[in-house]
Amino acid sequence: MKITSAEFLKSSFQEKDWPLGATPEIAFMGRSNVGKSSLINSLLAVRGLARTSSTPGRTQSLNFFLINGRFRFVDLPGFGYARVPKAIKQSWGEMVSGYLAKREQLVLSIHIVDSRHEPTKLDLQLHEWLAHVAKPQLVVATKSDKLSNNELKASLGRVKRVLNSDHVVTFSAKTGRGGNEIWQAIENALADYKHPTL
Ligand code: GTP
Ligand code: MG
Repeated sequence: MKITSAEFLKSSFQEKDWPLGATPEIAFMGRSNVGKSSLINSLLAVRGLARTSSTPGRTQSLNFFLINGRFRFVDLPGFGYARVPKAIKQSWGEMVSGYLAKREQLVLSIHIVDSRHEPTKLDLQLHEWLAHVAKPQLVVATKSDKLSNNELKASLGRVKRVLNSDHVVTFSAKTGRGGNEIWQAIENALADYKHPTL
């Protein structure tokens, strides 16, 4: 896909602040620090549009970006960061699951895991829950540049087995590997979108 424009729209902490209109959305989710914001920047080939950090928990609100004036990317806060107080963890969970369950404009959920680690219980829960609410999803194993080919092969097998998923895209924000395949999935999801009457 040719990117002609990519702009930050808004950050939302509450449902009433979600952007209006029937513009389709692609959401990026996964554990804290897994590389969600880096994946967004890499797909758009813009550095720093989605804020990244080596400190887990950087993204705390739902961040909406408008791409080509035609669809939105939504950078979701990461889950499973142990040092976050319980009350905040709860409100994060509600904010994210509320969005995923209710948002009619959501055409694709991109679930990002770290290719170096076995998916956690929370990853499995997210994966199963998305399947349960019948939202199209794509699993992406990122930071693949940190593994050798052999390690990567073993790791992908493990991700597929643990998540019970037959398709996982190998990605690296550093090299751009896998970007085309993710774009293809996004284009397919956008093509299938039927505008709801909102
Ligand atoms: P939160 O918003 O805090 O949940 O984090 P996030 O999932 O958005 O992660 P972010 O994109 O901020 O990346 C976290 C760290 O991992 C940063 O230091 C990135 O530079 C690094 N990183 C992300 N993707 C890759 C990748 O593909 N390869 C390598 N080598 N490093 C990566
Ligand atoms: Mg982030």
